[in-house]
Amino acid sequence: MNKHVAPVALEKAYRLLNHGPTVLVSASHDGVKDVMAAAWACALDFTPPKLTVVLDKISKTRELIEKSGTFVIQIPTVAQMQLTYELGSHSLFTEPNKLQDSGVELFSVEGHEMPFVAGCSGWLACRLINEPHNQAAHDLFIGEVVGAWADSRVFREGHWYFDTAPAELRSLHYIAGGNFYTIGESLQIEKP
Ligand SMILES: Cc1cc2nc3c(=O)[nH]c(=O)nc-3n(C[C@H](O)[C@H](O)[C@H](O)COP(=O)(O)O)c2cc1C
Repeated sequence: MNKHVAPVALEKAYRLLNHGPTVLVSASHDGVKDVMAAAWACALDFTPPKLTVVLDKISKTRELIEKSGTFVIQIPTVAQMQLTYELGSHSLFTEPNKLQDSGVELFSVEGHEMPFVAGCSGWLACRLINEPHNQAAHDLFIGEVVGAWADSRVFREGHWYFDTAPAELRSLHYIAGGNFYTIGESLQIEKP
């Protein structure tokens, strides 16, 4: 974990996802680790914090999550755009060297049995809330967030600071066909 990474209070964890970033989903089971990209991840509840992510049956990461019951949702940065696309374009099912070839760097966090991706701006460690019908019929997975961390250069005290942080720490927002947007400027309503 780099020196900028700090814990995020669980009641503020939903804010890591509220702006709709494309994420990386990581999991491991029986010594096998995998990471995939996911655009369809969303906050679901405040306390305890929960989130949803759609995981197609073609993904090996999904299999690891179903077997281990745990996963990490992390928020990749502009600096990781190519990596995000790579991890979303190759499957461990067919490419056993996927992770090595992508150059993704993983790290572990004490007390959590899942692999974390280095260089992201936020991390949400999740326990799978097993809902076999939703998973089979809709590819819809629900996680309870059991730990959250962020890079304090860009997220601290429950708020994002994209305007003032280095531009390469901005989030990615996927369109299709290898096209991403990054987050724009902040706007604030007038308060009475
Ligand atoms: C930017 C991007 C976003 C993606 N979003 C999703 C998603 O939300 N859900 C999904 O099941 N697959 C999504 N994919 C596809 C998976 O990442 C892809 O199937 C990946 O190869 C699975 O890897 P794995 O089999 O090693 O787990 C996305 C791909 C890209 C490039």
